[in-house]
Amino acid sequence: MARKSSSTESNEIDAVDLISLLSMPENGDSYEIELSVPEQDIDLIALGKEELALAKPPVPISASVSKTIPTTLTTQTKTVAKPQQTQTKTVNVLTPIQGFENDSFDQIRKDISVCQQCGLCKTRKNVVPGVGNEHAKLVLIGEAPGADEDIQGIPFVGKAGKHLDKILAAAGFKKEELYICNILKCRPPNNRDPNLAEMKVCTPFLQRQLALIKPKLIGCLGNISAHYVISPSIPGITRIRGQWFDSIFGIPTFAMYHPSYLIRSESREKGSPNWQMWQDIRALKAKYDSL
Ligand code: URA
Repeated sequence: MARKSSSTESNEIDAVDLISLLSMPENGDSYEIELSVPEQDIDLIALGKEELALAKPPVPISASVSKTIPTTLTTQTKTVAKPQQTQTKTVNVLTPIQGFENDSFDQIRKDISVCQQCGLCKTRKNVVPGVGNEHAKLVLIGEAPGADEDIQGIPFVGKAGKHLDKILAAAGFKKEELYICNILKCRPPNNRDPNLAEMKVCTPFLQRQLALIKPKLIGCLGNISAHYVISPSIPGITRIRGQWFDSIFGIPTFAMYHPSYLIRSESREKGSPNWQMWQDIRALKAKYDSL
């Protein structure tokens, strides 16, 4: 394998490495999903004790996300089905955001750039709204901008972003077809994790972006994004990656590793995180191509 040998670049791999090193997925179709809304009563009968605990509404995305942007929650139970596996979960679905009938990406950018709803406005260099195709079928959502993104005002331009670019290219995605953004539009200082309050107040911007784009699919990059966009009651990313879920946006959502986790892992062996990501991204591509 043509892994680069310099210490700073030793984790980086070329797209061709991904193709040559990682085996083909056994069955891309196994990621097909069906979403249906079963009768509430049937769900309650079907749920065991453990699942009932899971079915409690997860940490709510508060109805008062913003005083000026009305956002409310409704709770729906949906069945997310994979062949040979059916999961029933309660997902808190945000109601469509109201009051932005004439919204535009320019307006969203302007609103983000003057936003002072959390403390990150004091430490950011630039806001990082999102980048890509405004009619994308697939939106990829990370957690928050890092240092490079803060400087450039564009998501996923740093080391993790470059790794993501290679993975996307190797799977046959054209980056310009996609829309890429984060839950937070401003960088948390010292790259700390976003906190729930920050994510809540920032969510209306993401809702507005999704309302304009109207994607068919969402891909969550990493544990924080998956737990916020899908549900905090789901297991950790190592257990749910490669699976489809409903999400707070009511859009089928695929859970994947974060590229910065992948660049910390050297191995490309079968079963390693990079190998798993390779299976997942190709499953996502197969689903994307089937739309
Ligand atoms: N990590 C993220 O989650 N988002 C970025 O934009 C960059 C790194």
